[in-house]
Amino acid sequence: MFPKILNFLPPALVAGILTASGVEPAAPTLRSAYNGSFLIGVALNGRTVSGGNTKAAEIASRQFSSVTPENDMKWQSLHPQPERYDFKAADAYADFAKANQMALIGHTLVWHSQTPQWVFQGDGGQQATREVLLKRMRDHIHAVVGRYKGRVKGWDVVNEALSDGGPDVLRDSPWRRIIGDDFLDQAFRFAKEADPKAELYYNDYGLENERKRSNCVKLLRGMLDRGVPIDGVGTQSHFQLEKPSLDEVEKTIKAFSELGLKVMVTELDVDVLPSRGNPSIADINRREQGDASLDPYVSGLPAEMQQKLAKRYADLFSVYLRNRKSVARVTLWGLDDGQTWLNGFPIRGRTNHPLLIDRDLKPKPAFFSVLGSAKEQRNR
Ligand code: G3I
Repeated sequence: MFPKILNFLPPALVAGILTASGVEPAAPTLRSAYNGSFLIGVALNGRTVSGGNTKAAEIASRQFSSVTPENDMKWQSLHPQPERYDFKAADAYADFAKANQMALIGHTLVWHSQTPQWVFQGDGGQQATREVLLKRMRDHIHAVVGRYKGRVKGWDVVNEALSDGGPDVLRDSPWRRIIGDDFLDQAFRFAKEADPKAELYYNDYGLENERKRSNCVKLLRGMLDRGVPIDGVGTQSHFQLEKPSLDEVEKTIKAFSELGLKVMVTELDVDVLPSRGNPSIADINRREQGDASLDPYVSGLPAEMQQKLAKRYADLFSVYLRNRKSVARVTLWGLDDGQTWLNGFPIRGRTNHPLLIDRDLKPKPAFFSVLGSAKEQRNR
């Protein structure tokens, strides 16, 4: 696989890339290679965008055309107490995106996780009423979306509202329990009021699973029929080496684009470590106990695994490129293997290698395969 990629790069360029100690400025970038196909994005942490890791910041801005805050626009970070908003960390992303001409994606307004308890409580500690929670949701959305109006290209308005099993389409969350099933409609309407020009997305994981995908289609079709302002759907894409199949990945893109929605791959990574549980459930509450057999690549990813990962990324990007009329953005969930959430999920303290750039901020074979996929497409 890998030699094939190198074949269609000019020999001088190949030599330049291979001898480079990092991603050299003169080398082609993901950003330029995917220009004209779709945005190629990255989720970053606060340290990277606020000057604490200048090398990572420099690579991110050179390689990617879009940025998503990995944590700093979640309710818990922006609005920790009823009367207190803290925009400092989030503002750094807006500045970073502007300085580097990157599209800024807001993540996320309404989620069951990373939302402080007070949001769901009424006076005296009992559960909030529907009216109180709707008002809180509206106030929060207006404050946050209003602040970044004109600066955020699109918002993940509701995150992970669908269930992973059982008879119910929607997950049992405080949002649903207190407001009712229309909490999604309400959130999208509030976001539209706050910034009529921002794109509004529904975002979830595991949509390559047939049950969840068809539930998602039903949910979104209902919203569209009711005139709810929704522009797109984010399929998070926390994948493994073998699963989901490319066929399911492509079916998912087509199912949503057939609804007339933009499709975004919003949190792409490829877990290379063995798992005991169901690896396709990216629910942050899923926790497992591990032992050394589940952490085999502590001292580095062996060459044959690097090639497997590179092939997996090439295959995925060939699907994305084939569907580039429907796919508006592909975002990697993290810049490098040292900073991925998968070092701590679902087992804490492991050494995972799911991204395109390694812990030393050097490009991996997977980086070149993604770069090569774009060139291959262009040469067709
Ligand atoms: O900032 C605190 C720090 O002060 C504290 O010392 C430390 C101790 O645990 O925790 C730090 O917060 C952590 C935070 O990431 C920032 O690193 C939280 O514990 C940890 O739970 C949190 O994890 C994030 C997770 O969402 C939950 O919000 C991951 O970084 C982030 O990658 C992950 O992203 C989610 C998407 O938002 C939605 N889709 C699934 C995806 C993966 O779970």
